[in-house]
Amino acid sequence: MQRKIIIDTDPGQDDAVAILLALASPDELDVLGITAVAGNVPLALTQKNARIVCELAGRPDVPVFAGCDRPLKRALVTAEHVHGKTGLDGPVLPDPLMPLQDAHAVEFLIQTLRREPAESVTLCPLGPLTNIATAMQAAPEIVPRIAQIVLMGGAYFEVGNITPAAEFNIHVDPEAAEIVFGSGVPLTVMPLDVTHKALVTQARNAAFRGLGTRVGVAVAEMTDFFERFDKAKYGSDGAPLHDPCVTAFLLRPDLFSGRHVNVEIETEGRFTAGMTVADWWGVTGRAPNAMFMGDLDADGFFALLTERLGRL
Ligand code: BDR
Ligand code: CA
Repeated sequence: MQRKIIIDTDPGQDDAVAILLALASPDELDVLGITAVAGNVPLALTQKNARIVCELAGRPDVPVFAGCDRPLKRALVTAEHVHGKTGLDGPVLPDPLMPLQDAHAVEFLIQTLRREPAESVTLCPLGPLTNIATAMQAAPEIVPRIAQIVLMGGAYFEVGNITPAAEFNIHVDPEAAEIVFGSGVPLTVMPLDVTHKALVTQARNAAFRGLGTRVGVAVAEMTDFFERFDKAKYGSDGAPLHDPCVTAFLLRPDLFSGRHVNVEIETEGRFTAGMTVADWWGVTGRAPNAMFMGDLDADGFFALLTERLGRL
């Protein structure tokens, strides 16, 4: 059965691969729309990049909406040092011809959740949670209508990537994350603990390139670019494909394992703003609010991804 999803995103090479994986899987996933948010790069680039990726997938029919251009209460932090000036550095891809939708992304989220049957739409946030939190605040009645939220963000054992304590997506807009994690919607979280295990080794990158398609080569070039940051920082084998863990989970949840725990968002810490305080060891007695993933079958993940990208 097809599951209806909305992808909320700040592309980003790994966001791009997550979107491609979803669009390559129409039997399982019906992408109702893509909502762009400011994150890795400013909004003007993330909405454009989302359209570039749809066209790369041969899906100019997918509606793309621009959303919030800054976090709820803070100045925007971006990550050009990881993703390059455009956010999609690596392959040379044409400017999109498909239009940006007129409606604001938050309006699209609200209208779609009101229109579709209750608990039939899954939200897939791949960037800061500003659009989702803004929609929840503006129209609280949509919150119980959301089937579930599967998001990339946070870290426990891996702690932080943008600061010593915090992962980028949560750090950029901790107040938005606090609203989403406190919403009561069933949450599945792909933290760095998982995504740092989804590493594009040379062999895995060769498999993308070996598809011999425009998409396969573009993904190989994206990960070539993206990997230089993590190799230098962590000494890892290649680029972590953070965001595709979200769309892969929708297709093959059996590839992932974790714990249903309480996760609170640090919004005030002098050094720790944006930290996901996950009660992994169950020491607080606070009610669980998130399935917090800890491990994945990396070979299974890359086999799925390569096979699906080959369909585009
Ligand atoms: C997250 O931050 C961004 O740089 C990536 O696209 C991913 O969503 C990883 O911390
Ligand atoms: Ca992202």
